[in-house]
Amino acid sequence: MYTSKEIREKYLKFFESKGHKIIDSASVIPENDPTVLFTTAGMHPLVPYLLGEPHPSGHRLTDVQKCIRTGDIDSVGDDTHCTFFEMLGNWSLGDYFKKEAISWSFEFLTSKEYLGLPKDKLHFTVFAGDECAPRDMEAYNFWVEAGVDPSHIYFLDKKHNWWGPAGQTGPCGPDTEMFIDTGKEKCSENCNPSCDCGKYVEIWNDVFMQYNKTKEGTFEPLKQKNVDTGMGLERILVALNGGSVFDTDLYQNIMKKIDELTCNTNVADIKKKKRIIADHVRTASIILGDRRGVTPSNVDQGYVLRRLIRRALRYAMQLEMPDGAIVKIAEVVVDQYADVYKEMAENREKILTELDLEEKRFSRTLKQGEREFEKIVSKGVTKIDGESAFHLYDTYGFPLELTIEMATEKGIEVDTEGFKAFFEKHQELSKAGSEQRFKGGLADHSEETARLHTATHLLHAALRKVLGPQVAQKGSNITAERLRFDFSFERKMTPEEIAEVEKLVNEAIDRKLDVICEEMTVEEAKAQGAIGLFESKYGDKVKVYTMGDVSKEICGGPHAKNTGELVNFKIRKEESSSAGVRRIKATINND
Ligand code: ALA
Repeated sequence: MYTSKEIREKYLKFFESKGHKIIDSASVIPENDPTVLFTTAGMHPLVPYLLGEPHPSGHRLTDVQKCIRTGDIDSVGDDTHCTFFEMLGNWSLGDYFKKEAISWSFEFLTSKEYLGLPKDKLHFTVFAGDECAPRDMEAYNFWVEAGVDPSHIYFLDKKHNWWGPAGQTGPCGPDTEMFIDTGKEKCSENCNPSCDCGKYVEIWNDVFMQYNKTKEGTFEPLKQKNVDTGMGLERILVALNGGSVFDTDLYQNIMKKIDELTCNTNVADIKKKKRIIADHVRTASIILGDRRGVTPSNVDQGYVLRRLIRRALRYAMQLEMPDGAIVKIAEVVVDQYADVYKEMAENREKILTELDLEEKRFSRTLKQGEREFEKIVSKGVTKIDGESAFHLYDTYGFPLELTIEMATEKGIEVDTEGFKAFFEKHQELSKAGSEQRFKGGLADHSEETARLHTATHLLHAALRKVLGPQVAQKGSNITAERLRFDFSFERKMTPEEIAEVEKLVNEAIDRKLDVICEEMTVEEAKAQGAIGLFESKYGDKVKVYTMGDVSKEICGGPHAKNTGELVNFKIRKEESSSAGVRRIKATINND
């Protein structure tokens, strides 16, 4: 049996031996990226570097990135899907390209020292070409050169062999994917890796980023050619060991704890329900334990978190687990990841306390809500109307998705559009908030967002000056129109404090300070009094942005060149974000 620790170590060691620098996982909450709620792939936090910003650790990087994808949440419970996974990756930032990427992938997969997989069990797909980009004969030839039998290479279309932002702008290109043959019968004569019959399981993807998709939908060559690869840790363990993801060491102890806590085994679909509890508690613990961790709420990441916890709680109740069971399960999760991600150990108390609080909040209304639900469906409806779904949400704390799931169990539908209409009417859900939750893609790195990013640093510095050094960044989100900054502070700011912060930021703008970027070690940055998230390891190089004597902050950029590029800083809103966290929305134009 391969263990997760073994695979992480082998992967990083292999790419280190090929000149890559090992970097830490970034946060699962993207910084300054309004278009996605969570980090969904290893490349996501590296987008600025893929677009040409120099990375402080060089041109060859490797890491294990914490990722969250909730798009497949309905498939959780089968053998392979998880809402949290770790992605092993190696990057070339304008350094090597297809030849090295392919020969190293092949070496890692087949070499006895590493995965030692038999060549005849491996299959490969490459991009077939279309009107935008040519057939990837280079990738094909490099596989053959590496020793792959041409009958194991398949040409597939853009749907399968292209990676990049769906319908949005950003770096993209053809990819080549690696599959393992599970030994199952072919489902038809034409069965190939594009087929989802389960014979071929994808284990790795090498993306050759050579284009930037523009706003107009055209593909222009990128300033630098990059390689972005991704191998899902959970997936590769299943491919190597057989069985399901819940049989791997990543889940064994969690499942054991769930078995121990289950008091009613006479429940339909019990295996699936136990797996869902395991997955959701694991993901919720990772989100809560993150350095930019959020807490359960009704918007954005906090909403997803709440939904995961409440779904797990509902199943825990069906299995008649005792009160506090999910906290006990989370303890196992924290112990398991404490050595891998330091922040999990550091945030242990926060993770357990927040889960406990959320359980208390929801268990008070869960039973009543279920009774209310039964009342609604007992009327013989075929579709739950928007108002009733909203009532379940508003009064009993049922996330819409939970109501949909319960309705589906009874074979009825829910009027989600009607729900949204009520939701917006009652909650005045901000336009940005509602759009974000239903959108995907990559960040917009326009000049305006760079300027707002610079304004965010000035704001952060001003808040610390006016409110005290206990103010720490809790989140940041930038669209082309405004910045949004969450920070730790216990109470509402007074109008005087708001005016003072605005004044300080506008003074820094008027002083036309150069924005200077320097690379240094984390220790040097700390010694110079830089603020920001110290996510990096000892000795790692980081980028520090300095604006005169006003601000010094660790950050990946990009930024404006001079604070004078910002026009007029104005705080548009100051409100509560969650307990102990305030939120400011601000603009930098005159209008
Ligand atoms: N970014 C690529 C993926 O997620 C490697 O598949």
